[in-house]
Amino acid sequence: MKCVELADQFGIEHLRLTERPHPELKFGEVLIRVRATSLNYRDLMTVTGVYNPKQPLPLIPLSDGVGEVVAVGDGVTRVAVGDRVAGIFAQGWTAGEPAVEKVRTTTLGGPLDGMLTEYRALSQEGVVKVPDYLNDEEAATLPCAALTAWSALIAHGQLKPGDTVLVQGTGGVSIFALQFAKAAGARVIITSGSDEKLERAKALGADEVINYRQAPDWDKAVREMTAGRGVDHVVEVGGTGTLAKSIRSVRFGGHISLIGVLSGRTGEIDIAPVLMQNIRVQGIIVGSREMFEAMNRALEQNRIRPVVDKIFALDEARQAFGLMAQGGHFGKICIRID
Ligand SMILES: NC(=O)c1ccc[n+]([C@@H]2O[C@H](COP(=O)([O-])OP(=O)(O)OC[C@H]3O[C@@H](n4cnc5c(N)ncnc54)[C@H](OP(=O)(O)O)[C@@H]3O)[C@@H](O)[C@H]2O)c1
Repeated sequence: MKCVELADQFGIEHLRLTERPHPELKFGEVLIRVRATSLNYRDLMTVTGVYNPKQPLPLIPLSDGVGEVVAVGDGVTRVAVGDRVAGIFAQGWTAGEPAVEKVRTTTLGGPLDGMLTEYRALSQEGVVKVPDYLNDEEAATLPCAALTAWSALIAHGQLKPGDTVLVQGTGGVSIFALQFAKAAGARVIITSGSDEKLERAKALGADEVINYRQAPDWDKAVREMTAGRGVDHVVEVGGTGTLAKSIRSVRFGGHISLIGVLSGRTGEIDIAPVLMQNIRVQGIIVGSREMFEAMNRALEQNRIRPVVDKIFALDEARQAFGLMAQGGHFGKICIRID
């Protein structure tokens, strides 16, 4: 079967299209003919060796992929041949609280081989049926980016109609956060480094926009937009470069989802306002299969369409990663496997 792997060194330039033996099914496994995959920033960090420099190679990248079940092993009852499924991000986290043994060693696209391959055998416990109304590329965006936004705002954030949400940037997680927040009846303030992307965010329902390059003190703008009160939720993808401003943007008793590290992961932060203002800071690690299934019910009900910006072919994997590295996208980047 064809697949793309990171052969023996980290770096986008070391991704190569290659052949591997067809997977053999073990008890309880299903064989997926993967049709579409999507990229997450974590995949870029994995390929460049930033995420886990000790990741053994070779590795098939990408946590997210969707395809048709073409064979099932003995003991499979959850899905059948012909079902369209996605692999779940952490194969070991089906329900309940996260735990180190459920998550750390079970994630696709590192440490386990991922979905950038024609065929992938996964445990029946590690797959989810995807909504029929979505095409393959749209469905392939769900396992990491969509579920992270859902986990942040709905599962942990308990978002309510009328709440105000601050969303940072216009990448995969952020555009899903915008869409979930609007579907839940919230007001959304979104930031971006690009006016053109902000116009696209408005077209998706963003109520107010801030260009963080033109307004580096965007926390002040957020305060003004909320009559001095601050927002109820911050979808924090920037990391230590943005966290201090996120703390200044959130209301007394508000909620910050710590999701990303786009501008750094270490640094000095004044935590006094977190205590003095009863701010809830919640670390997010994607979500469980149970949460994925709950999200799918909400997607179906609201007919939310994931925003797929660009679709590449399997032999264009380097270009797909290159686009993400430049931040040239809005929403999601996909790779189709014909
Ligand atoms: N904890 C988890 O479970 C989890 C899950 C998924 C992702 N993440 C993390 O969340 C972050 C986003 O992931 P993604 O896959 O959505 O990435 P992505 O699609 O590559 O989106 C990145 C976008 O963020 C914006 N951005 C970059 N630097 C920024 C900054 N300093 N301040 C505000 N916005 C900035 C840019 O948007 P503009 O061009 O519009 O400015 C950029 O295009 C990454 O750090 C990723 O590792 C964590």
